[in-house]
Amino acid sequence: MLKDKKIAVYLCGGIAVYKTADLVRQLIKKGAQVKVAMTQSAVQFITPYTFQILTKQPVYTEIFDKEDKESVSHIHLADWADAALVVPATANIIAKMANGMADDFVSTALLATTAPIFIVPAMNTHMLENPATVRNMETLKKDGRMLMEPDTGFLAEGYEGKGRMPEPEKIIEMLQLHLIRLDSSLALTGRKVLISAGGTKERIDPVRYITNDSSGKMGYQLAEVARDAGAEVTLVSASGLPNPFGVSVVAVESAEDMFVEMNKHYQESDIVIMAAAVSDYKPDHQEKQKMKKTSSNQEMTLKMKQTKDILAYLGKHKQHQYLAGFAAETHDVARYAESKLQKKKADMIIANDVSNPQAGFNKDTNEVTIFTTDKDPISVSVRSKKEVAALILDEIAGKLRKQR
Ligand SMILES: Cc1cc2nc3c(=O)[nH]c(=O)nc-3n(C[C@H](O)[C@H](O)[C@H](O)COP(=O)(O)O)c2cc1C
Repeated sequence: MLKDKKIAVYLCGGIAVYKTADLVRQLIKKGAQVKVAMTQSAVQFITPYTFQILTKQPVYTEIFDKEDKESVSHIHLADWADAALVVPATANIIAKMANGMADDFVSTALLATTAPIFIVPAMNTHMLENPATVRNMETLKKDGRMLMEPDTGFLAEGYEGKGRMPEPEKIIEMLQLHLIRLDSSLALTGRKVLISAGGTKERIDPVRYITNDSSGKMGYQLAEVARDAGAEVTLVSASGLPNPFGVSVVAVESAEDMFVEMNKHYQESDIVIMAAAVSDYKPDHQEKQKMKKTSSNQEMTLKMKQTKDILAYLGKHKQHQYLAGFAAETHDVARYAESKLQKKKADMIIANDVSNPQAGFNKDTNEVTIFTTDKDPISVSVRSKKEVAALILDEIAGKLRKQR
């Protein structure tokens, strides 16, 4: 998303400005073109030379720079940028921006730019909570500027509080997500995507359960790729993987919980992908207390009953949604997948042979065949789950584009 994007980074005089050298380096590593402007206060904390070396570009600090051949370089930078990033945004620059002031290079270029402006406030808690700062930040939000929430933690003043500059990785994630949201040309812009992931757990008693080997990695990759393609993504997850940034995650445990949550979000969704490994059976009865061993050598029988078939239920109640499901099989993969496509009234079944050591549960790679109702099956050879996710979503986006 940041590849070849022109980012103007405006540095202000907060102590956290030392972290911005790493931020600029990471933006460049992601393929962005970066130019830096600094306030006079920022220059007190870190030298422009650092950024000149990192960006291989001159650093703007003076509005009246007699050496500068462009002469109106603040307008040049303002017009050049695809996005402006103000970091760390001091209480001072926030006040100036909220009031349209332009008395140095940074504030003047920011007033002149038509690019989206991302602001990363960082300051002492009391400065942040001052009614004037709160009011100025509200004004900037109303003006359509994007403000990032400061972190809470140990401040330079020697005490805990809110106002820390978030780490560069977090700032880059926020920037990428907003740029995706602003890009109307992406394949899934404006689409709502609902994905299930992970292996459900069916409790026997409070400390024991039945589950399967699914890690949730395929569903999480689908969620991230859909997010990066502009979709608003809800992930109903029975996996313990960390929440992907910019994806709304609903944590569930059992097949029944997953059924409830998938139904809750089904109506509003355009694309629904059941990537979870949902248990087909659950204990007929769940003990309230931990079961005790009665006596040695005694056998124990666990009576099981079927869980609800979520994919079949969604297929039966399908209206406008594009419905896809996974079929993890160990034999006769194509036959089961084709019959699942019809029986569950799905639009797509992605079949994978989980007996293949490079595919399926808990692996980082997958090998699948995509079955749809109107096309010959598409065989996807072994590749990363991210690449498989991209192919699946590309296929779905293509179908939806034709329907429009
Ligand atoms: C050591 C030190 C640390 C500072 N840290 C911050 C800060 O984190 N956030 C902030 O808003 N101001 C901070 N200030 C105050 C600003 O530097 C001051 O308000 C300055 O006028 C901001 O100018 P600028 O917005 O043009 O960069 C700090 C000042 C000093 C001396």
